[in-house]
Amino acid sequence: MSVAANASPQLKAALREVSAEMDRRFDALLPIPNDPRADLYRAMRHATIGGGKRLRPLLVFATARLFDVARDAAARVAVALEAIHVYSLIHDDLPAMDDDDLRHGKATVHKAFDEATAILAGDCLHALAFEVLADPATHADPFVRAELIADLARASGPSGMAGGQAMDLKADGTRFDLNTVTRLQQMKTGALIGAAVEGGAILGRVAPEGRRHLRGYAHDLGLAFQIVDDLLDVEGDEQLAGKKLRKDGEQGKETFVSLLGVDRARQQSRMLVDQAIDHLRSYGEEAELLRAIARFVIDRRG
Ligand code: IPE
Ligand code: IPE
Ligand code: MG
Ligand code: MG
Ligand code: MG
Repeated sequence: MSVAANASPQLKAALREVSAEMDRRFDALLPIPNDPRADLYRAMRHATIGGGKRLRPLLVFATARLFDVARDAAARVAVALEAIHVYSLIHDDLPAMDDDDLRHGKATVHKAFDEATAILAGDCLHALAFEVLADPATHADPFVRAELIADLARASGPSGMAGGQAMDLKADGTRFDLNTVTRLQQMKTGALIGAAVEGGAILGRVAPEGRRHLRGYAHDLGLAFQIVDDLLDVEGDEQLAGKKLRKDGEQGKETFVSLLGVDRARQQSRMLVDQAIDHLRSYGEEAELLRAIARFVIDRRG
C-alpha cells in the first residue's frame, strides 16, 4: 500500500518521475563541503532528498505543460517551491512549533542533528529558493525572473505561509470560526500551492488576467488539500503519512475537522475538488494532469 495507491497510472508515473528529478536536483545543488558547514549541508540533504509527495513541484510541471514551457525551467521553479516547502516543514517540526520527531518516515531534522542546525538548514533552503529563481538559467528574461521571485516571496511571507503558521500557533486555545480557519489554511497551505500553479503560468508568460481560472483551481485545491491533511490527522495511517498523527485533537487545535466534523469536512473537500476541476473547463486534454492531481488530493493516503 502506498500514499498514491488510488492514483491513476498517469499520475503515479508523473509522481515517480518528479520525485526522482527533485532528488537529483537537490543532490546536485547541495554537495557536502569539506569544512565546518558539513552538518548544515547534511541536514539540508536529509530534509530535501528522498521524501515527500512532491505535490508542489508536480503542480509546477503540470501547469507549465499547458504553455509548452521548457522542462528545465519548470524544474528550477519546482525546486524553488519545494525548497520553501521543506524549509517550512523543518521549522514546523521544531519544539517551538509542533515539536515533532518524525517526518517522511525518518527523524525530523532537529532530532537527527540539533535545533540550531535545523533552524539554519531552514534558513538556507529559504535563501536557496530565491537564488535558484534569480539565476538566468531559470529564464532568460529578467522580468520573468523578478515576477517569479516576487510571487514566491509574497506566498512565503506574512501574507502567505509564515503568516498562516503564525495564525495556526494561535489556533489551539483560541476559538476560531470557520472564516478564520479558512483564511489561516489558505495562507499556511494554499499560498504555496497557489505559487506553484502561478509559477508555471509565469514561465508560460500568461498575463495576470489570463491566470484567473488557474488561480481558481489552485485556491480550491489548496483548501481541499488542507482539509484532507486535517482528516488524515484524525483517521490516517501513521506509517503511510510518515509523520505522527492525532496531534491536532490532542492539542485542541481548531481545524476544518474540529469545526465541521469528519463527514462534512470530507463532503467539503470533495465539493472543492469538483470546483477546482471545473475551473479547468476551458482547457482540453493538456490539463488532464492537473485534473488528476485534484482527484489525488482527496484520495491520497498520506
Ligand atoms: C504537509 O504538506 C504540510 C501541509 C502544508 C499540510 P505535504 O503533505 O505536501 O508534505 P509532504 O512533503 O508531501 O510530506
Ligand atoms: C504545516 O501544517 C504547514 C506548513 C509547514 C506551512 P501542519 O503542522 O498541519 O503540517 P503537518 O501535519 O505537520 O505535516
Ligand atoms: Mg503546524
Ligand atoms: Mg506540523
Ligand atoms: Mg497537519
